[in-house]
Amino acid sequence: MRLIAHLSDLHFGRTDDQVVAALRHDLKQHRPDLVIVSGDLTQRARTAQFAQARAFLESLPAPSLVVPGNHDLAPLYRPLARLFAPRAKFARHLPDHDESPVWTDERLVVVGLDSTRHLRWKSGKLRDHHLDHVDQVLAETPASHCRIAFLHHPPSTAKAGHPFASLAERGIDLVLAGHVHHAHIELIHAGHHHSCVLVQASTACSTRLREDANGYALIRVGMPAITVEVRGWNGKEFHTVHRHGFHKLSGLWHHD
Ligand SMILES: [Fe+2]
Ligand SMILES: [Fe+2]
Repeated sequence: MRLIAHLSDLHFGRTDDQVVAALRHDLKQHRPDLVIVSGDLTQRARTAQFAQARAFLESLPAPSLVVPGNHDLAPLYRPLARLFAPRAKFARHLPDHDESPVWTDERLVVVGLDSTRHLRWKSGKLRDHHLDHVDQVLAETPASHCRIAFLHHPPSTAKAGHPFASLAERGIDLVLAGHVHHAHIELIHAGHHHSCVLVQASTACSTRLREDANGYALIRVGMPAITVEVRGWNGKEFHTVHRHGFHKLSGLWHHD
């Protein structure tokens, strides 16, 4: 079994200190094997905000994988940095965190995809080179592994097609995303022969709340099954909001 904590949209610079402390506490209680952060670690990609994000990641009880979100690129009001070095601060302040990270152990393979576009503010995209990268990583992965991809932008904000279907077609079991600050769990089908589980997390600790409270997901992977536990902030602590179970049968994922 592997326990993964999926966090998104931390937005350091616009965080609630009480929620940050409670989130750290909740993670220490659950002791995940791995923390995955699907972008928007900062509010405005400022040095101090990246320093806070890094200190937070370093305080967690597990290694972390991150990809940038649209808020982690040099802002539009710094046009030269935006144009020529949009991810420079991300790379400088999170030096152990590649923009396209890969994690492999005896049970999991995890691929991070940078879906941000520096010539756009909000929208993101999966491009052909992302899919090629996924193909390359999966080609070296045993079939028994749970195959996970994570990126900032969910399909509702992607411009073309249904990119998560492309990931399912490639054999990805689980896709983790953020950006819209709303928790959502869905089974995605790609034709009759492929499917994957989508986990979209709310904002973990920022005050940029939309329709949802702060939250994150605890994902238990014990192939051929996955359980997704949505943890939400109730004003005092993080608690279980709901749980979804999935199992893989004859190559296809099903709800329990
Ligand atoms: Fe965000
Ligand atoms: Fe975002």
